[in-house]
Amino acid sequence: MIHAHAYTMLQPLAESMRTQHLKNLFTQDSERFKSFHLEKEGLLFDFSKQKINTEIIDELLNLASEQQLDTWIERLFNGDKINHTENRAAWHTALRDVSTPNPDVSKQWHKMESLVNQVHQKQFRGYSGKPISDIINIGVGGSDLGPLMVTHALDKDKHEHAPNVHFVSTLDAQQLHKLLKSLDPATTLFVVASKSFSTIDTLSLAKTAKEWLEEHAPNHKVVMNHFVGISTNPIKMSKWGILPEHQLIFWEWVGGRFSLWSTIGFSIALRLGMQGYNDMLAGAHAMDQHFKNTPFKQNIPVLLGLIGVWNTNFLNLSAQAILPYDSRLKYFASYLEQLEMESNGKRTKRDGTAVTYRTCPILWGEVGPNAQHAFYQLLHQGTERVMSDFILFSQGISQSDQDRANYHHNLNIANCLAQSRAMMTGDINEDLHKNYPGDQVSNTLLLKKLDAYHLGMLIALYEHKVFVQSVIWDINPFDQWGVELGKELALNIFEHIKAQSVDGLDSSTANLLKNIWKQRHEN
Ligand code: F6P
Repeated sequence: MIHAHAYTMLQPLAESMRTQHLKNLFTQDSERFKSFHLEKEGLLFDFSKQKINTEIIDELLNLASEQQLDTWIERLFNGDKINHTENRAAWHTALRDVSTPNPDVSKQWHKMESLVNQVHQKQFRGYSGKPISDIINIGVGGSDLGPLMVTHALDKDKHEHAPNVHFVSTLDAQQLHKLLKSLDPATTLFVVASKSFSTIDTLSLAKTAKEWLEEHAPNHKVVMNHFVGISTNPIKMSKWGILPEHQLIFWEWVGGRFSLWSTIGFSIALRLGMQGYNDMLAGAHAMDQHFKNTPFKQNIPVLLGLIGVWNTNFLNLSAQAILPYDSRLKYFASYLEQLEMESNGKRTKRDGTAVTYRTCPILWGEVGPNAQHAFYQLLHQGTERVMSDFILFSQGISQSDQDRANYHHNLNIANCLAQSRAMMTGDINEDLHKNYPGDQVSNTLLLKKLDAYHLGMLIALYEHKVFVQSVIWDINPFDQWGVELGKELALNIFEHIKAQSVDGLDSSTANLLKNIWKQRHEN
């Protein structure tokens, strides 16, 4: 358990809350929403459908104080080296703080702006002299998911001269090959995005892209004009051949999964224009200010994080569903999977000892209406208790009351509210096949509309939620040592494949390889 007085106080409260049905909390207090919602500039956080009361919230706030959340927030915003296992800061908030611009950040921002303008104004030309029509962002993890998610979400607001933007991340190169079949090499620009510039997935795809261009371009020299590189490592970029004027830099103090605010956001800026990109930064900055300056009781990321801790450590829930009711947020759950699970999927405390309590739950999700016809059965009648976040926008893609889009948006709203209500109340039926136990907790995040500003707020909200939880759990959310072993072993197995040898491999791996080699030569 976490050694804090509040933690001990919360345990008996959890005991009694576990036996309460969520719907009874609404019967006991018909104005429950009033006590358990918060608002900030077009973002409303309804946490009334959680198994909480004011006493529990007060103790959770005490827990935050005992874990010194205020000091940690200060250290985060000061750029202290709070990622102690890598001896780095985690200073993504500085990237969106336009009021006190960091000179290094400004320099790269201007370089990025200039490249974006060149593309939009058709001054950036390929080897045949034609302007660039298509961008392919090659990157994986944080160098892919953020820009992919945002450009998809905000496509309606694309810049009038925006090129087509595509994303390629899969190591098997199938996405890339499919794209290359339909694109014109003379008008295609590749963006090689990699914080380390050493990720094999990205570099192998970039190499294939380079070979494709070399097959079509008149000479090798012009090929490099079709590449922009984004990394913290200019030496590696230069070695690979990225021209200095096409290198966008960011810094070790920007974590990969927090990097869409840095020059990794280049493809976002290309698609939305600099104005859209800046609006997103402004929304995130507004959330930063709220997080930094608002008393914990009214602080949305703090409460969102603490409620997650309550569900995980006291009500023993180990799964979290992300359910946006807007297809423009198709990639939001994937984005959060990395943000939350790569950050807080840890079992070692800051001091190097093992945790004795649960940390990050399993998080997954899908666009709500589609998920209703896929996995909601488990949410309604399965044996797992799951916490859900419903995300809904008041305004749909059209503001006109008459049109068809509005009709669909109303249906969408009705479904979102119906599902969170059904999960809360359930429905008693003597026939157990038709019985809904209900009592499934959820948050609803209601935003005015899906634009760059509000999306920036939403992303920053989840970033800070993750940070709050890491402080309570006393873990470092900014490293990811757990993914290194797999990379090392892959290199080792790759050597075995090249040598056609299974020497030294365990019997499962060795026999799987042997079967792969056998099956490869079969019809
Ligand atoms: O393997 C995990 C990871 O390091 C992520 O943290 C990161 O976002 C991704 O790989 C890509 O890394 P890079 O941007 O250095 O290519």
